[in-house]
Amino acid sequence: GAEMARLVASRVLDVPDFPKPGVVFKDLMPLFADGGAFREVIDGIVAYHGRDSFDAVAGIEARGFVVAAGIAYATGVGVVPIRKAGKLPRPSYAASYELEYGEATLEVHQDAFTAGHRVLVVDDVLATGGTAGATLDLVERAGGTVAGFSVLLELGFLGGRDRLASRPVHALLTV
Ligand code: PRP
Ligand code: HPA
Repeated sequence: GAEMARLVASRVLDVPDFPKPGVVFKDLMPLFADGGAFREVIDGIVAYHGRDSFDAVAGIEARGFVVAAGIAYATGVGVVPIRKAGKLPRPSYAASYELEYGEATLEVHQDAFTAGHRVLVVDDVLATGGTAGATLDLVERAGGTVAGFSVLLELGFLGGRDRLASRPVHALLTV
């Protein structure tokens, strides 16, 4: 709710011209560094979806790993890392997506999910939605069912939500 949004807003730093001129980067490290705030946002995400609504949590490299690990520990489900290309050691599925300049690829192990497992997908920030879209596809190709998608912060002006069309997107804070 509004309280959760205020908490996230109070722990985000705006960094001008990172990673390139003209971009204002939203840095969530102060939120991760505040133990009480971190615990509140993890509990907030779990409460939003309901702790019995998912069987696994998938986190997107790299900052999504932090969020996913917190949710896994809080609920007792396991974590599946969605990794940048070339990092996973065993047979994997790959999905490419558009960046502002060029392309990036994410991967997941082919046997990452038990068939039919309901997977909660998490990341720190939803920007253009390219990363999230590729991840949701990967989870389904690997046999999971997407139970939900949560981010701490949505950059609404970049239209990621629209690009994820029929997917449910939950953000603790939208700016
Ligand atoms: C950031 C962020 C999301 C993604 C959002 O990660 O953590 O994963 O970009 O952008 P999009 O919605 O436009 O796809 P980044 O690619 O910077 O990787 P990192 O976490 O490894 O730094
Ligand atoms: N902050 C964090 N991650 C991001 C951002 C941002 O401003 N833009 C795209 N990914």
